[in-house]
This record gives sequence, structure tokens and C-alpha cells, in this order.
Amino acid sequence: MTPADGGSPGTLVAGERVLLVDAKARKYLLTLKPGAMFHTHAGIVAHDSIIGGTDGASVTGSTGRHFLVVRPTLSDVVLKMPRGAQVIYPKDLGAILLAADIGPGMRVLEAGVGSGALSMALLRAGADVVGYEVRPDFANGARANVAAWSGDDVAYRVEVRDVYEGIDEVDLDRIVLDLPEPWQVLAHAEKALRPGGIILAYLPTINQVATLRAAMTRSAFGMAETSETLRRTWHVEERSVRPDHRMVGHTGFLTSARLLVPLDETSASLEDDAAASEQDPDEGFEDDPAEQ
Ligand SMILES: C[S@@+](CC[C@H](N)C(=O)[O-])C[C@H]1O[C@@H](n2cnc3c(N)ncnc32)[C@H](O)[C@@H]1O
Repeated sequence: MTPADGGSPGTLVAGERVLLVDAKARKYLLTLKPGAMFHTHAGIVAHDSIIGGTDGASVTGSTGRHFLVVRPTLSDVVLKMPRGAQVIYPKDLGAILLAADIGPGMRVLEAGVGSGALSMALLRAGADVVGYEVRPDFANGARANVAAWSGDDVAYRVEVRDVYEGIDEVDLDRIVLDLPEPWQVLAHAEKALRPGGIILAYLPTINQVATLRAAMTRSAFGMAETSETLRRTWHVEERSVRPDHRMVGHTGFLTSARLLVPLDETSASLEDDAAASEQDPDEGFEDDPAEQ
């Protein structure tokens, strides 16, 4: 088993990564090496005191303080792993998997790959991932981060190339983009995705979203949706139960759309549909909020 599978149920072994958590809930990610020492604000911890121990147990540091030792979750690794490019936050990674409907065996093109956080989430969901990344250093960093998380035996390939210049893959199930101008990818995506396939773009500003949505109206993509995810943690301690004072205010917007097949001449025309909708008894009613 690899960390991506949830780790082995057995004892902690040299070479695997663990998360140390101190009394102030500060987290440290380290790779266990026999004889090594890990220095923290709360004291030094000998790796040997962790190796052979149990996931979820505590160890004692040089100052006598205790540290919890657990195998890291995907969220822990994403927030602590080496990064060149800004990673997508776990709250958005979860939302992306559902908005793009990622599932086992799906063929997914991801661009740009950056530090590989989204790659790790896509692979965790069972997808086969091809990544396009313009920067060779980021491509190498992503490969290393993914290998440290999933091992080498995963369906993952990163090519150093500019996705704005085209996509070689065909019959893709999904395309997931985290780069500044996803509208430059739409024409390529129309050829590379299978009909009904989903494209998703993650963008930090609403101006970019507006440009993308306008470009989508001139493309074969439809059923477009834009959302953002706000996550607020709570302080829960005896009689003090309230939202935490601090939260991540803004990260990015998710826009997804599906590749549609145009109506051909033998089908009902759009004018017919428009005429029919004038008599639609549901016209004017709000969507059911439960469907949102
Ligand atoms: C914010 S980072 C992606 C972070 C990544 N989603 C993650 O979670 O680690 C954006 C990446 O897009 C890459 N990029 C920008 N334009 C690109 C293009 N036209 N083709 C391929 N990659 C591109 C950048 O080099 C950068 O690594």
C-alpha cells in the first residue's frame, strides 16, 4: 500500500512520511530515517522513537513534551509538501472532483500541473492523468510530489508543453485547467474531449470567469456552472462553541461545462424549442434550491 491508499495498517516504517502534531496543533511532515532527529518549536524528536510505533500514538520529544504521530491525509500532504506553484486548497480539490465528476478509469487531461496537488486528488479518485505543464522545473516537482504520495505505479504522465498550442489526446473524459487563460483551450478541448465530456477551469478572479463564460457561449460547451466554496471551521470547546475567528476568505472559482453535440438539421430547430417554452407551465418558476 502507498500513502495514497491510506497507508499500511501496520507499524510505522523507515522511509514513510508521518505527521507530527504538537500540543498547539502545529503540524510537521517528515520522512522517517533511522538515526535522524527532527527539530520543532516544541523540542527535538528522534525518528527512532517513531519507527516501529503505531499510527495515532504519541511520542515524547527532548523537552518532555508529547507529539501525536499520524499518517498524513491527502489534505495534510497538499498543505505541507514542497511547492513551486501555488497549490489548490483541499476544500477546492474536493469540490473539483465532484464538479468535474472524476471517477475510476477516466482519462483526464490536466493543465497546468504546477506542484501536483490537483494531480494527486485526480489520481486518488482513480483517474488516468496526463498533465501539460510549461515549466520543466514545475513538471519535475509535480512528478516528485506525486511519486512520494502514490508511488511510481500510477497512471500519471506529465509533458512539458503549452496547452494553448493544442492537445494531442483524443476521446478524453475530462479536462481540468488551472492556468490564467482557459478560454484559449476551448477550441482544442472541443476536439480532444468525447461528446458529453466535462471541462473544468479553476480561476482566482471573477474577471477571468466572465471572459471564460463569454467564450463558452461561442463554443460547443454548454450547461456551464460557476461556483465558489467557502469553508468555515468551528471552535468547539466545552461551552464555547462558535465559528473560528479566522477563515480562508477567497481562493478561486470553479467553472464547469459539458461538450454538447449541436442539433443537426433533421432535429427540432431551436426556434421550435423557443416556441414550445413559451407555453411551458413551469416557465418563470425558480429552480429548486435543493438541486443546487
Ligand atoms: C497555479 S499553478 C497550478 C497548481 C496546481 N493546480 C496544483 O494544485 O499544484 C498554474 C500552473 O500553470 C502553468 N501554466 C500556465 N500556463 C500554461 C500553459 N499555457 N500550458 C501549460 N501550463 C501552463 C504554470 O507554469 C503553473 O505551473
